[in-house]
Amino acid sequence: MPSGRPNLSLPEVRQNPYPLYAQLRREAPVCELEPAGWAISRYEDVAHVLKNPRVFSSEGLRFAVEPPWFGRSNPWTDSLVMKDPPHHARLRTLVSRAFGSSLVSRLEPSIRATCETITSRILERREVDFVQDFALPLPASVIGGLMGLDPSLQSRFKKWAEDIVALSVSRPEDTELLASARTTVEEMERYFNEVMDHRRREPGEDMVSDLLRARVDGEPLTNRELMGFLFFLLLAGLETTGNLLSTSTWILSREPELLARLRADRSLIPRFLEEVLRYEPPVQATLRLCTEDTTVGGVPLPKGAMMYVLLASALRDENHFPDAERFDLDRTEPENLAFGHGIHFCLGAQLARVEARLALETMLTRIGRLSLRAEQVEWLPGVTVRGLKALPLEVRS
Ligand code: HEM
Repeated sequence: MPSGRPNLSLPEVRQNPYPLYAQLRREAPVCELEPAGWAISRYEDVAHVLKNPRVFSSEGLRFAVEPPWFGRSNPWTDSLVMKDPPHHARLRTLVSRAFGSSLVSRLEPSIRATCETITSRILERREVDFVQDFALPLPASVIGGLMGLDPSLQSRFKKWAEDIVALSVSRPEDTELLASARTTVEEMERYFNEVMDHRRREPGEDMVSDLLRARVDGEPLTNRELMGFLFFLLLAGLETTGNLLSTSTWILSREPELLARLRADRSLIPRFLEEVLRYEPPVQATLRLCTEDTTVGGVPLPKGAMMYVLLASALRDENHFPDAERFDLDRTEPENLAFGHGIHFCLGAQLARVEARLALETMLTRIGRLSLRAEQVEWLPGVTVRGLKALPLEVRS
């Protein structure tokens, strides 16, 4: 490294983290970061860490999402993404039932209808911020529908998700932020309890009813586990999918030839989305904690070391993806780590892919002109999730 330890959260790194990732892979594939933690940047090492949850724990990270200065519990810590084996397997079995293959086909007509409505709305407005006017409302409506929440609550989702995420990078002196996060957790618990009570009285064909019905060895999910799952679902399905949509649209607005190719052949849309997921993955990194002294890629790591497992760097690893820094629609490598790997592989991957495909199909059919209204775009500052702050577009039919 040129001088000292690298810092993933510097604003210039967040605007374009890929040169730093490339340098890490070349010079220090497992290295200590400023102000804390370790970065794992090569494909093989990332896959190794994600495949070994006994040594590289998710549960140990509880302190990050429920810091002592929060002064209360955060239901997120009870969700399956924060659990290690064997507890994780039980939760995953229960929750997978509600994510069965019929889920996506059941939702597809309503997702398509929502895409049509949102597209009509942006065509009327013409000058839009694609992030606020399309990329977030679509997954908010899908997640809200999935959980059976009142549609009027959808405008609250973004704030809820922001508050919970901000909590994980909070400090004891952030009194305003902590107060806002407490109010948010209370509000979310209240609404989710209402939904669960309602579904207990009147079960329906929705995910909460499925979760209430699910059993493993005759045992249902506990109330805390259910609440934890609903908390995580809102965070997992909203910003990630929104970022995939806005990044895809940004790429198309800058690449007229690519846009023309997709317009001429809609069957290329899934392949285009896979390449966006590789090239600009919405989840750049996931965190793990070493449960014992170990080595990764030959480098010793002490027990208690926190790791940034850099999915986005692995997906540009030249040893795995030839000409990795090039966006290439004709790529054939099947492995995509954008949805993780191993026991925590994303349960919503199929849903996210369908949402994005239907959104692009609708847009390509109905929007004739798509032009960027800004020279530069700004990326959100987060290290683990990457997405555009805003995407000013002009759209015409
Ligand atoms: C483009 C959109 C999405 C991306 C890039 C994404 C990415 C990921 C990644 C990387 C993980 C693994 C985290 C880890 O290993 O620590 C994950 C887990 C998960 N995702 Fe997604 N996700 C997306 C959309 C969704 C949606 C729409 C849902 C649900 C509606 C969802 C539900 C989940 C769940 C439940 C897990 C936890 C699985 C477990 O711990 O066993 N995700 N996601």
